Amino acid sequence: MEKILFVLIPFQKIAEMAHAHGALLLVDNSIMSPVLSQPLTLGADIVMHSATKFIAGHSDVLAGVLAVRGESLAKDLYFLQNAEGSGLAPFDCWICLRGIKTMALRVEKQQVLFQTFFQSLELVNFIL
Ligand SMILES: Cc1ncc(COP(=O)(O)O)c(C=O)c1O
Repeated sequence: MEKILFVLIPFQKIAEMAHAHGALLLVDNSIMSPVLSQPLTLGADIVMHSATKFIAGHSDVLAGVLAVRGESLAKDLYFLQNAEGSGLAPFDCWICLRGIKTMALRVEKQQVLFQTFFQSLELVNFIL
């Protein structure tokens, strides 16, 4: 049986390297959720969150969120979004707002359930 490898990413080090070369650090945080991971606080410049998965949470919208560092970057992205016409419809925005209210509760409950599940399979040593 193959082992699953989880790698801890040293965001701050990578952000320093990117910035030293004039690059931006973009992080796809889709499978972590904003509850479990906030890469902007660790030096990322643009963070992509899946609203489809954790933010909306009810499988009734297809959407994403880009969180950015600073107003200048926000204005640049807003210009692109507006020019492309890729903004969400009002009802989809409402679905995301509905979901975000319970996001932390859902994610924390999922954590507890997964921990219980893995412990019941005696896989904790396998995944740690
Ligand atoms: C790593 C990663 N990023 C982004 C996405 C897109 O997320 P979604 O379609 O749930 O908004 C997915 C979807 O599975 C993903 O696995």
